[in-house]
Amino acid sequence: MTYREPVTTSQLRHHGDVDAEPGLLDFAVNVRGAGPPPWLRDRLVAALDRLGRYPSAADDLAARRAAAARHGRRPEEVLVLAGAAEGFALLPALRPRLAAVVHPGFTEPEVALRTAGIPVHRVLTDAADGHRLRPDAVPADADLVVLGNPTNPTSVLHPAAAVRALARPGRVLLVDEAFADAVPGEPESLAGDATTAGLVVLRSLTKTWALPGLRAGYALGAPSLLDRLAAGRPPWPVGVLGLEAVRACCEPAAVAEARRAAEALVADRDWLVTALAALPGVQLQLPAAGPFLLLRVSAGARVRAALRAAGIAVRRADTFPGLTEDHLRVAVRPPAQSAVLVAALAEALAPVAAEPAAPKEVVPNTAVPNTEAAKTAVRPDVGAGAGYGAGVGQETRS
Ligand SMILES: Cc1ncc(COP(=O)(O)O)c(C=O)c1O
Repeated sequence: MTYREPVTTSQLRHHGDVDAEPGLLDFAVNVRGAGPPPWLRDRLVAALDRLGRYPSAADDLAARRAAAARHGRRPEEVLVLAGAAEGFALLPALRPRLAAVVHPGFTEPEVALRTAGIPVHRVLTDAADGHRLRPDAVPADADLVVLGNPTNPTSVLHPAAAVRALARPGRVLLVDEAFADAVPGEPESLAGDATTAGLVVLRSLTKTWALPGLRAGYALGAPSLLDRLAAGRPPWPVGVLGLEAVRACCEPAAVAEARRAAEALVADRDWLVTALAALPGVQLQLPAAGPFLLLRVSAGARVRAALRAAGIAVRRADTFPGLTEDHLRVAVRPPAQSAVLVAALAEALAPVAAEPAAPKEVVPNTAVPNTEAAKTAVRPDVGAGAGYGAGVGQETRS
């Protein structure tokens, strides 16, 4: 399978919602359930009565207080956002000279930075060492480093100490923790870390609370950094419903519910891992900490088409830098749904099970039209990732 570096905005802007066409059983989008739980829906419905006025400073403060209390921070260290995605869109306001983005990872930070003309260095982690972080692969002069923890799409959870080791004087370290609440106890989260200089943590309500349509999240960091991020925002950037959602989802009862959901997810993921590991021709990226798994198969495009024909949507993964057409990402669902995926995948793989997954061949992306690629200097770091030792992750073949 040929590896082609995804560089165009349309490639990088591909997300699972595009794969999840109506009518398909959705394993492409990593949202838990079809909508928010009744108690949260009720809170939002009650907040509708406040739509007749602008969101107030008191609404904003109440949301920030709740998020601060949830993470042991001060309200001044919270910036409520219209989803974690807004946090990426604000990054150019920091005016970085060189950004390093850890890949394969969520692609929107790179899109936001490149669109603003900021040079982006791709730091590629490697399946060979479990996609482990290598601080030395990050250019010393990068004054902004972006990574996800746990990482989408690899589902790798980096140790907090390895993430913290990326901090440097004069550098902003942005950790996207959109999926952190899917990990029971959040052992590697830096959300409560108020001492690492330059650290900004992004959190999302989208996944655990099934609120992708609302757009709600927040950033945690030093007040001076948050002020710089927010400088160019329009007035009232987060509506009454978004503020209410942050407040509600940060209350202790919600945090306890999220933890129970995370524990249930572990059991569901164990089930899916066991079932997929029994399929010949499937390589799994393990261990996995997120509500999704990264798979590698042979003839990935054909397998994806066969799944689609069987009524199942999975996330193509070749739009993530460092991955290929043979990589697929699947959401973890309860076993009754996962069994449908596993059966369809077994059928789709049957004709190719005998073929081993081909090694990755790296092709420099000279064929990409220059219009988008030339906007910024993208410095692919294809060889990064080797030599960091084993232990954090492992790739199994079965
Ligand atoms: C890793 C990651 N970070 C951030 C986001 C965006 O989150 P939000 O919906 O809060 O903007 C996504 C959405 O898919 C994601 O996968």
